[in-house]
Amino acid sequence: MTYPDARPRRLRRTPAMRRLVSETELAPRQLILPMFVREGLTEPRPISSLPGVVQHSRESLRKAAAEAVAAGIGGLMLFGVPEHRDEVGSGGTDPEGILNVAIRDVIAEVGDSTVVMGDLCLDEFTSHGHCGVLAPDGSVDNDATLARYAEMAVTQAAAGVHMVGPSGMMDGQVGFVRRALDEAGYADVAILAYAIKYASALYGPFREAVESALVGDRRTYQQDPGNVREALREVALDVAEGADMVMVKPALPYLDVVAAVASSVDVPVSAYQISGEYAMVEAAAANGWLERERTILETLTSIRRAGAQTILTYWAVEAARLLRAGF
Ligand code: PBG
Repeated sequence: MTYPDARPRRLRRTPAMRRLVSETELAPRQLILPMFVREGLTEPRPISSLPGVVQHSRESLRKAAAEAVAAGIGGLMLFGVPEHRDEVGSGGTDPEGILNVAIRDVIAEVGDSTVVMGDLCLDEFTSHGHCGVLAPDGSVDNDATLARYAEMAVTQAAAGVHMVGPSGMMDGQVGFVRRALDEAGYADVAILAYAIKYASALYGPFREAVESALVGDRRTYQQDPGNVREALREVALDVAEGADMVMVKPALPYLDVVAAVASSVDVPVSAYQISGEYAMVEAAAANGWLERERTILETLTSIRRAGAQTILTYWAVEAARLLRAGF
């Protein structure tokens, strides 16, 4: 009796055998850490729905950025939380606004040793919490918002950012920002386009992290969770407009979208493992319902397997340390 002929288990028998045939590499350089910096703080402040993540003070941000570089991760994505907000999000375009100050601080700390990225969106800076400026009827005014993004991009570039991440889902935002950067002499500043951002319920903890003022939702600009063909159209437009990298967001519930995007474009594809994905795992692990470290690395490996070359994750530094320790 020599049945069955095919025995896939042969290649799973020992750790060495499994390592030899492993298909997906997960490495620290592929991870990008989103970081929050809050104006006026002297000490970092915990975010209750994101255990382990904080709103940084300027000083603690510099220190954490240096630690992230030491852990070998690929990049940092900075979010600013201002003390005051207004209708047009002036804090985003003020060179002394918290995000622009933080970019200068982090660049002074880490230089070119990692990739420093700035979130390019107005929602943290507007009194109404929307990602753009409002028209008189209360809708988000696409083209008026583009002008604000252009100014914000140039301000971040002047602060030394390596890459801007337009995340507001306005039509034409990548091309508009590209032209503005080029005209201002910042042709070398790259664009990571949040090409497809779904109108997801999983952004909840992020809204606490940035003290979002939003009432209502973002469904007139973020994408319907059921759509994937529309995602490919969004990506194609962003690449045509000059996106250097594109991102899918959220990650885990949208791995089919990550895979479809990865096979449809030739620029690097990123995925954002968002706040709600992080919170779900942390909450389950805190209850003893999941093995925390294994779950973290499994989710990240799965996002890589789907086709994301890089991943934004609040676990970036911890995951990098686990990987280096051979976990
Ligand atoms: C918008 C922005 C959001 C996130 C990143 N950039 C919030 C939103 O679209 O409502 C969410 C990230 C997360 O949930 O971790 N500037």
